[in-house]
Amino acid sequence: MSSATPRRHRHPGPDPADSLTERVLQAMAGTADPRVRAIMAAIVRHAHALVRELQPTPEEYEQALRFLVDLGHHTTAAKNEVVLFADVIGVSALVDQVNRTGVESETALLGPFYRGAAPWCAAGDSIARSEAPGPTLMVAGQVRNAEGGAIAGAVLDVWQASPVGLYENQDQGQADMNLRGRFRADGEGRYRFRTVRPARYPVPTDGPVGVLLSAQRRHPYRPAHLHFIVSAEGHRTLVTQVFTDAEAELASDVVFSATPGLMGGLHRHDRPDPAHPGAAPPFFSLEYDFVLAKGTPTFPVPPIP
Ligand code: BEZ
Ligand code: FE
Repeated sequence: MSSATPRRHRHPGPDPADSLTERVLQAMAGTADPRVRAIMAAIVRHAHALVRELQPTPEEYEQALRFLVDLGHHTTAAKNEVVLFADVIGVSALVDQVNRTGVESETALLGPFYRGAAPWCAAGDSIARSEAPGPTLMVAGQVRNAEGGAIAGAVLDVWQASPVGLYENQDQGQADMNLRGRFRADGEGRYRFRTVRPARYPVPTDGPVGVLLSAQRRHPYRPAHLHFIVSAEGHRTLVTQVFTDAEAELASDVVFSATPGLMGGLHRHDRPDPAHPGAAPPFFSLEYDFVLAKGTPTFPVPPIP
């Protein structure tokens, strides 16, 4: 056989990396939905760039894929480890940031503990359905539009962890839907409810995210906060959190979502106050108003049932 005869099963050898990326992009170019096409192309470009930068060994690659599988295996009815991972690497906070319009109140990430379908409550009701080891917190405020007008009938979906540091779905000792509730604002957009003062708490560390945090020598804590989803017809839904710890605590939020703009000023009451009937001192109150931008309401799919 002359040396000019091509060998039939010649190994093609390594492709230049750019050409491999190009071939994958070409293979996906017929994707019908243009947004899916753009998303997948960006994922492939960035994933290939990541591999070129890191040059992972086969063992490292296996470990990375196993980490993703473990995120799924540690996702249960009590906790969504996939959301938690996106949160602790700052991706959820960034998605939140790029969706701000600048018109509405400051937003914050949803987190993995939103359940949806919380019980409807009347104005002034308490969302504490179990004994909680903390002082009473009276919360009130108004929902307005960008022009300052009241949004009558706006809906506020509220949830928080117990001062013991756990959401009710993580803790057998708490009643179902403890510290969760939905309220409808009155004709002047005003809402009010009663709860317990939240405390800082650790995100779950019993799965791969916990292993990652400890490898990175990071603490797992979130500063004390209340979650809100505020919605109304003709307006973009606002997903946010209101922080009740000292401002100094906010900078080290393990999920990078706490900012000074989300601080709610707590007022301490050492005497009974006729403005807060039934609240025994010492207790706290918090006034917090929300501004919604015009738009179409959308609702997040709860990460857990
Ligand atoms: C939360 O605030 O509920 C939360 C957010 C991100 C990760 C874990 C918990
Ligand atoms: Fe939370």
